[in-house]
Amino acid sequence: MLVRISPAGTVPPNASPVVLSMPPDKSILHRLLFLGSLTTSAFRIPIESPQTISHDLIATILALESLGVPVDIGDKEIGLQGVGLHGYRAPSHAINCANSGTTARLLMGLLAGQSFSSMLTGDASLSKRPMKRLSDLLSTMGASIETSTSGTLPAAIEGRNLRGTGLTLPVASAQMKTAALFAGLFADGITRIREPARSRDHTERMMSAFGYGIESDEVIKLSPGRVPELPEEVEYAVPGDLSCAAFIIAASVLLRKRIRIEGVSLNPSRTRFLEVLTLMGVELEADTVVEEWNEPRGNLTIFADRRSGGLNPLQIGAEDVPLLIDELPILMVLALFADGESIIQGADELRVKESDRIALAAKQFESFGVEVEELEDGIVIQGQPDRRLDSAAIHHGGDHRLAMAFSIAALFCDGFCEMEGAESVAVSYPDFYTHLKLLAGEKRVEVRAA
Ligand code: S3P
Repeated sequence: MLVRISPAGTVPPNASPVVLSMPPDKSILHRLLFLGSLTTSAFRIPIESPQTISHDLIATILALESLGVPVDIGDKEIGLQGVGLHGYRAPSHAINCANSGTTARLLMGLLAGQSFSSMLTGDASLSKRPMKRLSDLLSTMGASIETSTSGTLPAAIEGRNLRGTGLTLPVASAQMKTAALFAGLFADGITRIREPARSRDHTERMMSAFGYGIESDEVIKLSPGRVPELPEEVEYAVPGDLSCAAFIIAASVLLRKRIRIEGVSLNPSRTRFLEVLTLMGVELEADTVVEEWNEPRGNLTIFADRRSGGLNPLQIGAEDVPLLIDELPILMVLALFADGESIIQGADELRVKESDRIALAAKQFESFGVEVEELEDGIVIQGQPDRRLDSAAIHHGGDHRLAMAFSIAALFCDGFCEMEGAESVAVSYPDFYTHLKLLAGEKRVEVRAA
């Protein structure tokens, strides 16, 4: 698919906001599918339509099916029948995790303690991402996982008896933490985990809501053997994904258009982006906040139309990075238009995401006519309010978040920009271009078969 973005010009202010809802939060839904599959309950998970389900989640659903878990994607809901803690059956083929790091890493934790062997593979991008640091961590629990010689997928997992132990994560990664907790469900004894910095806490919240033996403090402690106390039929409404909303919120800020996002996750380990926006000078408000299954959610209004001055530049350091990890690409785009110098540091993890997000952003910004300073672990960007970028071809390296971030930047070029491989956005946010059209105008965002 090809997308052609034309310059936004001046978009008329809107008195009533553009109202949107986001796809189900990817992190929560991955965990719900995996943890739900280990119970004996039948889950009903409402969805807007099957087309809003991101490709990463499809990878998890297909993986579960190959482990013998019945999952059904209907018009208005996903149905999942749990098979119990020891109910997975040996897959007849390698499990392809496609582009989804979360699927691969969470599965590593789940499969390490099974009574059968399995193999995980992924697409070209996932096959370059580090897996050995996780297999090494799980090996201290007795796991036997063989990655490729470069420490990547494919990974061969030989199911073993696991033992609970004390673990310190080498990086603040919610995927690693979750994999270790999932492995801990199959281990003898208590698993204790220390994180170098706080990362998203959906696993701890869901395990606690389901009735697993989890205590979450400075050290996260999981005592296995407690069976979830859930009804036979469970309805779990997953809130919208704030990491998807971040892109469309940033577009609204740059276009100065008010938007309202309904039913979005407001989990405090995910809302640092909103705090950063406030520091940049954006007015926003959450209303009707409720908590279900330990997960806060609500409606969010971004009063982007009320902004008069420029955006304040960014100062992001290592302690912020795990809480902003998926929002850093779009924050880099906002920094292009801030009033002064923005610095992002301590973000080495960005180099091992779906692409090297620091290198590709620096390259794209240079094609847009902006010189940036690339650091080992971050980037320095000289912002300029009301700047026009040079129009240029967009290269996102197949990375969904870069595709979205660069498409938004392209609205502020001096001519049109084209990007091939626009279908990448469906990895996390299938409706991204539909939503961007609603904000920027139908004619400015043209998507067609390449
Ligand atoms: C995720 C954790 C983060 C994030 C990813 C989803 C999760 O990865 O980037 O999109 O659901 O646990 P890391 O744990 O590698 O930082």
